[in-house]
Amino acid sequence: MLDAMTAPEQVLTARFQSAFARAFGEEFAGADPIIRPSQFADFQCNAAMGLAKRLGQSPRQVAAQILEAVDLDGIAEPMEVSGPGFLNIKLTANWIESAANELAADALLGVAKEEPLTVPIDYSAPNVAKEMHVGHLRTTVVGDALARTLEHLGHNVIRQNHIGDWGTPFGMLIEHLLEFGTDSEAADLLRTNPNEFYQAARAKFDASEDFADRARARVVLLQGGDAETLELWGRIRDLSKDYFRRIYALLNVTLTDDDLAGESTYNEALPKVCSDLEAAGLARESDGALCTFPEGFKGRDDKPLPLIVRKSGGGYGYATTDLAAVRYRVSELHANRIIYVIGAPQEIHLAMVFATARDAGWLPAEVEPVHVKIGNVLGEDGKILRTRSGAPLRLMSLLQEAVAHARRVVDELRPDLSEEERDAVAQDVGIGAVKYADLSTSHDAEYVFDLERMLALQGNTAPYLQYAVARIRSILRKADAAGIAAPADAQIRLSNDAERALALQLLQFGPTVAQVGQLLEPHRLCAYLFQTAQAFTAFYEASPIMKEADESVRASRLALARLTERVLVQGLALLGVNAPQQM
Ligand code: ARG
Repeated sequence: MLDAMTAPEQVLTARFQSAFARAFGEEFAGADPIIRPSQFADFQCNAAMGLAKRLGQSPRQVAAQILEAVDLDGIAEPMEVSGPGFLNIKLTANWIESAANELAADALLGVAKEEPLTVPIDYSAPNVAKEMHVGHLRTTVVGDALARTLEHLGHNVIRQNHIGDWGTPFGMLIEHLLEFGTDSEAADLLRTNPNEFYQAARAKFDASEDFADRARARVVLLQGGDAETLELWGRIRDLSKDYFRRIYALLNVTLTDDDLAGESTYNEALPKVCSDLEAAGLARESDGALCTFPEGFKGRDDKPLPLIVRKSGGGYGYATTDLAAVRYRVSELHANRIIYVIGAPQEIHLAMVFATARDAGWLPAEVEPVHVKIGNVLGEDGKILRTRSGAPLRLMSLLQEAVAHARRVVDELRPDLSEEERDAVAQDVGIGAVKYADLSTSHDAEYVFDLERMLALQGNTAPYLQYAVARIRSILRKADAAGIAAPADAQIRLSNDAERALALQLLQFGPTVAQVGQLLEPHRLCAYLFQTAQAFTAFYEASPIMKEADESVRASRLALARLTERVLVQGLALLGVNAPQQM
């Protein structure tokens, strides 16, 4: 990671490490000083216990030597050894002030650019001719936040929307389309209500032997590369693309057509995946199917678990495609890290794909595949979210409902705004609320889809943060109108504890973003933003701005308010949540 001189942990870490080298020898220069935020001070150094073991001394002795060797002049108040060997660190007001001023002058707000890695991210991945369900909502929203965050940290992110655009259902879908024609109202359903199209085709398939036969023959034509069939398949895919595009636009998600890398992309690579696995002695026939049996995967009966790469009829499946995709991502995209934002139930499937790819030498040890496991979204009954009739929910209508609900909140909050303005705000709030509710829960936990809670103006919600931003903007506007806006070079000077706490909180933005990039956990950024908004509220209660008579104090407070606004807006942007100008 490149330097972020405004991040207290990093500055302190560097100072402690050079102290270790001085006190204990060069070989200790890399030891982790374990600097953590602390309730007793700003931070605590917890290194003495670990070092004591290596040095064969007592932790308190070690802590005393660290204390002797470390130079925190100008950074922290003098320290004392406490408890079994902790060092409590209280930063000086001066250091916090100058770091906060540096932060204010930094376009990146303390986010340090990292050594760029190439990172394909597999996310969203809905299926052609099917409605996206709330599970897809989650992988879309979490994946997009990770893509934005990693890009912001300087990485070369390659979005890979692994849509389901191939397989046997296309036989019946094509035959169904043929009965109505590609320009029919029925075909248009693919853009607007894909499930209805799918279900109609399915119903025919179940009811008519004749239709089912044609559908099966069509699959053979499709797999054989018949031109007319491929053209019809392409039509279905294009209409679905239109549906995805509309959902992504509504969701404010960065995926475009250029990011589509669906299952069909890998068709030509599939035979070679199988023959290479066979040649390497990694795949063998089992019940007529070609399978790998990667080490360490056992079924209930304790027998080795197969990963089917070619079905007994000769067709290829989901696993084969994923193997081809790993190969492509490593050899063509030159991935350093491959991120899969996919449902938690697919854990074993992915682990077996990774293991097989490793065995085959397609996934070298230095490339790290990560499964970001996505938990289920539940209804209020605690079961997987469905409509009352038991059908899967239409994502489009769910989002429209969220926006309509937000509109009622905005109507109450801001009757003074015009219809158009209220519509725009409701859009940001409704969509933001749904996305944020998703992002603020750890990605592998389940959560209950509850619009009421998502749209609450109190608590860790998008509307709470959006409202905080709007409030700061209104303060800045008022100050501006009164001609007391802070000059661009206004100096931040801390005049009370709330200001100190807010400044320290703002300095944690860079490290928090870096942590999200490391751990791939957007909920940490949500928690951070929530705390930041709360620190602002405490600050604003303790430090009036307009009523403050001292010009430099007022300018400092305005500068802190402006910095808070920038951090909140940037943080929300990394999550893919818009902050409306007013609310
Ligand atoms: N299309 C699949 C589904 O809807 C998800 C695909 C996830 N990505 C992957 N590389 N397997 O469940």
